[in-house]
Amino acid sequence: MIDVRGRILTRLALAAVVAAGAAVAVDAPPAGRVRGETLTSGSISLELPLGLQAGAAYVPEANPLTAEKVELGKLLYFDPRLSLDRTVSCASCHNPFHGFADPAPTSKGVGGKVGARNSPTVINRLFSKEQFWDGRAEDLEAQAKGPLTNPVEMAMPSHDAVVERVAAVHGYAPYFKKAFGDEKVTIDRIAQAIASYERTVVAGNSPYDRYVAGDKDALSAAAQRGSMLFDGKANCRVCHAGFNFTDESYHNLGVGMDAAKSDAGREEVTKQEGDRGAFKTPTLRNVAQTAPYMHDGSEATLRDVVEFYNRGGRPNPQLSKEIRPLGLSARDVDDLVAFLEALTGEVRNATPPASLPQ
Ligand code: HEC
Ligand code: HEC
Repeated sequence: MIDVRGRILTRLALAAVVAAGAAVAVDAPPAGRVRGETLTSGSISLELPLGLQAGAAYVPEANPLTAEKVELGKLLYFDPRLSLDRTVSCASCHNPFHGFADPAPTSKGVGGKVGARNSPTVINRLFSKEQFWDGRAEDLEAQAKGPLTNPVEMAMPSHDAVVERVAAVHGYAPYFKKAFGDEKVTIDRIAQAIASYERTVVAGNSPYDRYVAGDKDALSAAAQRGSMLFDGKANCRVCHAGFNFTDESYHNLGVGMDAAKSDAGREEVTKQEGDRGAFKTPTLRNVAQTAPYMHDGSEATLRDVVEFYNRGGRPNPQLSKEIRPLGLSARDVDDLVAFLEALTGEVRNATPPASLPQ
């Protein structure tokens, strides 16, 4: 289902049925790397890549992680039959070969329809409660139900239609039984399984993490200078805080404010004028893989992003007080880009399933 260029083909030759229990739920970590922290939830003990903090994981009490839900969720995540014309899966826009994002500024759904926002990565969603650029979904379970019926995404007429579509694939029955105790397909079970899979897609053990853990050769001199700038003069850390490089909060940088119809962002959720044009601080882990950038995909490269900050964003009445011209030299810009590139690490559970149930 994947060709050599690493694109997920939308039409699957639905070949062999995966024998129930044959698929590996969580990829084994590569040999020879420093151990990370271990997350324990439900029946799962998940060793996280170096640099990630198990204590910061958010797993709702109602949906503890189990290997069986993760396995089912992974199949559903990669299954284009969950869309109206059977061509679009979650992975079409959150593609493991593009850092679980989409190389297009805005993504194409069923019928080539285009949405208004850039597909964010699903990497490290384990550490966030609220989802979407504006935080309107309260958790991953709530989020997963959105794209299935969004007319510019998977375009199914209703959640009942999604349930019927999945229930019609008899090969899914044993997976539901193992994950939930019986074969019944419901939209909540679909959402719980997909959310469980997403929580295992974690990235860490980057050169930056190995440097922090004591390997002083892991970062180039340029990336080391970039790290100092990131925490200091360039003022990036105030928002891209902590091990996942996000404060899980919403800020206005002025992105897209010059567009004919600018996106209200967080204001649509809070109804507060002060939140106009504010969007969620995204994680910067594996950010080198997820171009283009920003909620509207308006910045093509990491260098463009850093230059945007260096100019002081785009002034507007709601501009964050933390955004101002930075006076960075050309070398500073290079160094910051080198630092951002050093945040690319191993991604767990990123290998698409070999085949889907029939
Ligand atoms: C046609 C493209 C498309 C498809 C298909 C799609 N998404 Fe998305 N996804 C997006 C876009 C665009 C956004 C951002 C929308 C917003 O913030 O308003 C998004 C946001 C998300 C987020 C929030 C990430 C964050 O950092 O807040 C998650 C998680 C996610 N999608 C998972 C999924 C899952 C699971 C599926 C399948 C059930 C799916 N997506 C299908 C385009 C897509
Ligand atoms: C005031 C908080 C804040 C500060 C300061 C800040 N950022 Fe951001 N960053 C954000 C927000 C919010 C977004 C998304 C904005 C949007 O799309 O409208 C973002 C987006 C990004 C992106 C794009 C990521 C993606 O997946 O699209 C990169 C890269 C980035 N920031 C790096 C930096 C660097 C480097 C600095 C320091 C020069 C910095 N940020 C300073 C809040 C901040």
